[in-house]
Amino acid sequence: MYRYAQKLHPLLRSLLLLSLMTVTNAHAAPKIDLIIDTDPGADDVVALLFALASPDELNVRALTTVAGNVRLDKTSRNARLAREWAGREEVPVYAGASRPLMRTPIYAEDIHGKEGLSGIAVHEPRKGLAKGSAITYLIDTLKSAEPHSITIAMLGPQTNLALALIQEPGIVRGIKEVVVMGGAHFNGGNITPVAEFNLFADPQAAEVVLKSGVKLTYLPLDVTHKILTSEARLQQIAALNNNASRLVGDILNEYIKGDMEHYGIPGGPVHDATVVAYLLKPQLFSGRSVNVVVDSREGPTFGQTIVDWYDGLNAPKNAFWVEGGDAQGFFDLLTERLARLK
Ligand code: RIB
Ligand code: CA
Repeated sequence: MYRYAQKLHPLLRSLLLLSLMTVTNAHAAPKIDLIIDTDPGADDVVALLFALASPDELNVRALTTVAGNVRLDKTSRNARLAREWAGREEVPVYAGASRPLMRTPIYAEDIHGKEGLSGIAVHEPRKGLAKGSAITYLIDTLKSAEPHSITIAMLGPQTNLALALIQEPGIVRGIKEVVVMGGAHFNGGNITPVAEFNLFADPQAAEVVLKSGVKLTYLPLDVTHKILTSEARLQQIAALNNNASRLVGDILNEYIKGDMEHYGIPGGPVHDATVVAYLLKPQLFSGRSVNVVVDSREGPTFGQTIVDWYDGLNAPKNAFWVEGGDAQGFFDLLTERLARLK
């Protein structure tokens, strides 16, 4: 078709290509109205750059920050840094909960560094936080939203959304879907033998979200540990040779060391970025609707997600559990989006 178009008179060619684009766009999926709740965090920053580089598909309305990988002041600074690096300073950042609902706070400075962004130098970003707390922002936004219109990506402990749901249960009405990076079933845990960090850091919050009845999708370690970096994949990102690719390369080269050593694997996962890839291209992933419960009892299974994968209990299916993913497809999509940044 393109070769044929080349032979046409320039005006005719433009009209033909314009009509083709119109037809294509007419079938494009509707834009996703998105709030990203995050605890940056090395892989969170990669996810934020990925999402902010995709304005045609994702209308990122705000970033809401939570304590998790590091303390709230640093996760909030790092979220502001990510939007600055993405050239998207119009996106507001609201700071949220500085500690979990009930348990004593834990952090992951050993993995993400003291500043929450190992591998790169941080600075005080130009633009500050938006006024008001993330919990108030979530309540006000979801209460006034069209029914089931807002998607929430949860990249850290689920404390902010849990507090909003406790305070105003009716906000469920404004939520289209909650997509969570968290949990583990087949893979085993990364902070204990059975628990994944985000769930372990606030299991009571995850229980509140699970019991709220929102449409819930989990991207657990079961899938993130199948989508690993490799020399070739890091090289394809580096070959972009722009600021974003250099940032991501420096972040990942440091961040993946811990997992590669701990698990003895040839590459590391980019956990949170899989949530963005799922939103952009769900066909890269596979899973099934299951019943999930979270164990919040003190003891060796604290923070574990118990997944009834074979439906032995015939209990209500309260989440879509993703356990398969196309690793090369993920890195190709991430690379293509990073290429759009400066
Ligand atoms: O277990 C991985 C998750 O915990 C990721 O979200 C990472 O950023 C940390 O928050
Ligand atoms: Ca995170």
